[in-house]
Amino acid sequence: MPSGPALTVRDLELRYEPAAPPVVDLPALHVAAGTQLAITGASGAGKTSLAYLLCGIERPSAGSVTWGEVALDQLGETARDRWRRRQVGLVFQDFHLVPQLSLEDNVLVSCYFERLRPSQAERERARAELAAMGVPAARRDIRALSRGEQQRVALARALWHRPPILIADEPTASLDRATGAVIVELLIDAARAAGSTLIVVTHDQLLIERMARVLTLGAGRLLADSAPPAA
Ligand SMILES: Nc1ncnc2c1ncn2[C@@H]1O[C@H](COP(=O)(O)OP(=O)(O)O)[C@@H](O)[C@H]1O
Ligand SMILES: [Mg+2]
Repeated sequence: MPSGPALTVRDLELRYEPAAPPVVDLPALHVAAGTQLAITGASGAGKTSLAYLLCGIERPSAGSVTWGEVALDQLGETARDRWRRRQVGLVFQDFHLVPQLSLEDNVLVSCYFERLRPSQAERERARAELAAMGVPAARRDIRALSRGEQQRVALARALWHRPPILIADEPTASLDRATGAVIVELLIDAARAAGSTLIVVTHDQLLIERMARVLTLGAGRLLADSAPPAA
């Protein structure tokens, strides 16, 4: 049973400049609960912009993004941020770790966002999860980690709240092939174990082939959909 919600997009537009054509222009999209979905397309096609719209980091110029029962445009900024922290795990190409913090504190960073001091039990869980990802938390300095290890820490952070939604923007693009393959497996296993709805923006053929459904974007529009909904 998937615990991740379905996604419904209606008349979604994002314009950075009012006079220019929209960078995202998506009249309708439905993604079933618990789907593992890839979004691919040329550089500049609007993939990152769409990913940011889907998690509410970016606000649409028009239209709506609805996850399960939650319409993001109905939430104020604070509620949207809280929703994202609780519901969405985000993974980026370049990790977005905080080099001044220990590995453990990077995993726990959402606790600090909520102004909560992590408990001893939470610290122990963070260390156990790093170890399960193959990164000993005793290695304190982020900068001394390989890129693959940094992405594992970022993945442990993204998974901290057991998010029903996982969104990854080119999670393997800055990794070599073998390291990328490991991250692909960790990401897919985590999504499957939790029944999360997984959306990955990627050019990585290895990752694309593992996803149940593939969307191709071009100039902000949907060019192809491997699994269009039944008419
Ligand atoms: N903050 C921004 N301000 C203005 N234009 C932007 C901004 N971010 C992205 N764009 C433009 O929007 C288009 C889509 O970008 P992006 O979503 O990053 O594409 P992709 O991730 O597919 O490479 C590009 O033309 C890009 O230059
Ligand atoms: Mg991008």
